[in-house]
Amino acid sequence: MKTIRTAAAILALASLAGAWSANAAEDPIAARKGVMKSIGAAVKASAPMVKGEAEYDAVKAELAMRVIANGAAAAPHLFPAGSETGGDTEASPKIWEDMAGFKAKAMKFAADADAAVATAGGGLDGFKGGFMKVTENCKDCHEAFRIKKQ
Ligand code: HEC
Repeated sequence: MKTIRTAAAILALASLAGAWSANAAEDPIAARKGVMKSIGAAVKASAPMVKGEAEYDAVKAELAMRVIANGAAAAPHLFPAGSETGGDTEASPKIWEDMAGFKAKAMKFAADADAAVATAGGGLDGFKGGFMKVTENCKDCHEAFRIKKQ
């Protein structure tokens, strides 16, 4: 059963990742929203384990962190000139005013997720630290570079 559930979780996350990579060139706004959604899904998949509400599953934990690492690494490429407005974007104009600062946050996010991938095999205690570091990035970047629509 556990293996089946893990396989289902992997398939769900993989299909999210596939959906965004397909349209990155034609529609970067939809692509980056898809990336962020898959990152949100990866956090939701691992948070219950960190909180002790679900049994720790190292494969699921590692996969979730890989989804985040891939999405974070892709993020700098999904805000090209010309995609500042439209498509219900919540991206702040500050991204284009300070692209270097935005990319630096995305690369730190990717590095923290890579580090968390490595902690997943070390059991829940090791993973907790990696997960917390990864999720600190969300608020930090959203406050600086995302406009929350009312
Ligand atoms: C490097 C900056 C950065 C980091 C780090 C980051 N985000 Fe985002 N996020 C954004 C930006 C910019 C948007 C708005 C994108 C748009 O609407 O075009 C966004 C939007 C979102 C959305 C809304 C997607 C939608 O459907 O419109 C979710 C959900 C989200 N982020 C989750 C997360 C979570 C969870 C984390 C941490 C694990 C995270 N983000 C980390 C920059 C970041």
